[in-house]
Amino acid sequence: MAGLKFDARDPKHAAEGVPFDLLARIRSEEPVCRSSQGWYLSRREEIERCLKDVETFVADLAPLSGLAGREDVPPEELFLSEIEEPRHGQIRRLYNACFARHRVNALGDYAEQTCHGLLDRLLERGDEPVDLHLGYAMPIPSLVLARMMGLPDPADAAARFMQWSLDGSLMKRRCSPDVGPEGPPIQRYFAAELARRRADGMPRERDVYTVLMEAEIDGEPLSDVEIVTQLHFMVNAGVHTTRTFLCHLVHRLLIDPDLFRRLDADPSLVPNYLEESLRHDSPVQGTARRAMRDTKLGDVEIGQGDWIEVGLGSGNRDEASWPDADAFRLDRENPRDHVAFGAASHVCPGATLARHEGEATVRVLLDRVAAMAPVDGADYPHLPSSLSDRPILARLTPRA
Ligand code: HEM
Repeated sequence: MAGLKFDARDPKHAAEGVPFDLLARIRSEEPVCRSSQGWYLSRREEIERCLKDVETFVADLAPLSGLAGREDVPPEELFLSEIEEPRHGQIRRLYNACFARHRVNALGDYAEQTCHGLLDRLLERGDEPVDLHLGYAMPIPSLVLARMMGLPDPADAAARFMQWSLDGSLMKRRCSPDVGPEGPPIQRYFAAELARRRADGMPRERDVYTVLMEAEIDGEPLSDVEIVTQLHFMVNAGVHTTRTFLCHLVHRLLIDPDLFRRLDADPSLVPNYLEESLRHDSPVQGTARRAMRDTKLGDVEIGQGDWIEVGLGSGNRDEASWPDADAFRLDRENPRDHVAFGAASHVCPGATLARHEGEATVRVLLDRVAAMAPVDGADYPHLPSSLSDRPILARLTPRA
């Protein structure tokens, strides 16, 4: 063993970028290596094995809620990712119903109109530098999700989602040590809307709330705590991931004028652009699992209780699956064959929605902007940029 180690949470990655050269070495020399907390999986083969074996490897987000582990979370408060089969599959079907292709289609041109509205404001600023992160990529996922949920005022909801991300309460739950039975602010907000709907009894178009409120599993409706927990998790899982994706899309167009021109000349390349961005600059670089029993991954003995960091971003640069893996190319043979959305039964149910928002973000930008240029002296985040909140400053030339 070469004794390699990879710390996926090393703050240096935000400052200096993900060390893909080290990951390439790990994939070739010690594909299952030590991480700061347990083990790191760098190759697609072990990544897929781990994600498929849901009996052995279980997600546990409890430490992010200030708890030791999922044992401290009452079953009603488990986020979808953490629920074990068969209940996971039963709740998961509801998520699939909420975010299926036809539900995304039912949004009509809401995402495009949202992008136009945001660009209107940026283009009014003339020659001044504008921030494509705060002013464009950041608000889109919250506004679109709030609309799909059927929240009465998407702009107000989106502002709240952002506020709860910034004040650190977004991952907290009722069972977190510093919270209590009313839940964190986001759960109180969703609970108030649930109560309002129950009280007014108005007929509504089918939306995320109605799917969860009307659902029955084995003849039993979901409890209010379960409904609110899953609404909360949709925000946790769907807003910042998509925001990072949209940031990557606009950022790369800003720094690569050739790419901008190619997509402008041939918009049929946009879907390939989205997939190559997801692969090359995976917005979620990794996810975690805990081993429920002793097992083996590759040559490595994994102990019961061990933490495993599943390196999706590294798996998406695996040379065994992707020739010329570090290059950014629009002509990949199977552009969707990546693990940016995970794999197997926990694969992302929001992928169709994320792609829809990605398309709107890029197409509306190309439609309204003739060229964009970086701002001299500005400091740009790295690509991929691990949920950074740094600005992406640009000068935009509007189309005549
Ligand atoms: C580009 C944007 C997105 C990326 C890169 C992404 C990535 C992922 C990944 C990697 C997983 C698997 C995690 C694991 O197995 O531990 C996942 C799961 C999940 N995602 Fe997404 N996601 C995105 C957008 C969304 C959106 C828009 C939603 C919904 C509003 C969403 C909701 C979820 C949920 C609920 C799960 C858990 C599924 C389960 O455990 O069955 N995601 N996502």
